[in-house]
Amino acid sequence: MQNFTYCTPTKIIFGKGVIETLPATLEKYGKRVLFTYGGGSIKKIGLYEKVKELLKDFEVIELPGIQPNPKYNPSVLAGVRLCKEHKVDVILSVGGGSVLDCSKAIASGACYEGETWDLITGKARITRALPIVDIITLAATGSEYDNGGVISRTETNDKVGFGSPYTFPKVSFLDPEYTYSVSKWQTAAGTADAMNHIMEQYFCADTTLLNDGMCESALKALMVMGKRAYDNPEDYQARAEMMFNCTLACNGIYSCGNSSSGWPCHGIEHALSGYYDITHGVGLAIITPRWMRHILNENTLERFVKYGVNVFGIDPTLDKYEIASRAIDATIDFFRSLNIPMHLKEVGIDESRLSEMAHHVTVNEGLENAYAPLKEQDILEILTASL
Ligand code: NZQ
Ligand code: ZN
Repeated sequence: MQNFTYCTPTKIIFGKGVIETLPATLEKYGKRVLFTYGGGSIKKIGLYEKVKELLKDFEVIELPGIQPNPKYNPSVLAGVRLCKEHKVDVILSVGGGSVLDCSKAIASGACYEGETWDLITGKARITRALPIVDIITLAATGSEYDNGGVISRTETNDKVGFGSPYTFPKVSFLDPEYTYSVSKWQTAAGTADAMNHIMEQYFCADTTLLNDGMCESALKALMVMGKRAYDNPEDYQARAEMMFNCTLACNGIYSCGNSSSGWPCHGIEHALSGYYDITHGVGLAIITPRWMRHILNENTLERFVKYGVNVFGIDPTLDKYEIASRAIDATIDFFRSLNIPMHLKEVGIDESRLSEMAHHVTVNEGLENAYAPLKEQDILEILTASL
């Protein structure tokens, strides 16, 4: 078991109607609020109006229109400008992971005199950030319970992850009823994203029995509840369990004491959504099984056997490679049961830029140090197999 430090200072407030306590929570951080949101889903579900009513005694500055795969320009830059101009005390992020990731970048940039992009790329260190409170409306990324964010820069096809101890949300409100309106596409993508977050912690060289058990249980529950939420969007139990499962999946608690896997599927997917602006969870669902097949060998076999037997209930007396192969097929079958397209061509990605993306991943993601090391040729083969 490896040494580790673990600290998640975010307070989670979970359940029906919990946002009633929003004013009391925000007040602790100040009266001038930057209210960030996306393209309008919160207006359709009445959450925008509700927040405005709850914040009637606050000075509210709005930053609307934050897009999926949030963009440095205009959203991050506009938010930083607004925070500085209005001397904002606290950011209230209402929406999915993209709005929250963008808010984390804004919170950091607002306390920095240089280029915010330098904080995102790690060229400069984040040493301060404005406090962030969020109402998460989509179960997927776990951004509500971690300190990470991912920001895209269209002109260079960069999609860069960043994080610091200062970018944990102070408080995250999770009301599963606000996820009833999430489309089937996004419900499926969210399920695949969170499943992959767990797998990126499960498939590594050094694990513990405790972590393996938590990951296997979380994966099984996600598949049951993700499918239930997909079939019946207003199934409260399903939306609620899926929501908290996603919250835990990216926060590192499942890998305390594990060696790092290097998060290879995320490294590759960042190029897909950086170059083509596709839905993150869908990109992951397409890449994951191809990555699995690519890395299956004598060194990784036991992990796949454990995954197949404990997650999918495959007969442990079968040949080990047979178990592994069936486990990979079962992974694909599950994604297909959510109608996720399983080929890059179905999401508008052809062979023309695969080599360029493989090179971009090699240079930017450091996957030669992953659990199963990936060189540029490996990445290209995984991308090609995903076509
Ligand atoms: O923009 P609006 O109108 O709000 O619509 C959004 C958006 O179109 C919609 N939506 C959100 N809540 C809804 C809803 N529609 C109906 N009802 C609701 N209640 O869903 C669409 C997608 O939203 P987005 O926020 O982009 O999705 P998600 O939460 O999956 O976030 C994806 C982003 O997070 C990054 C991804 O790379 C991607 O950029 N990630 C962040 C991570 C983190 N912070 O830890 C980890 C992840 O691995 C991931 O990389
Ligand atoms: Zn993810």
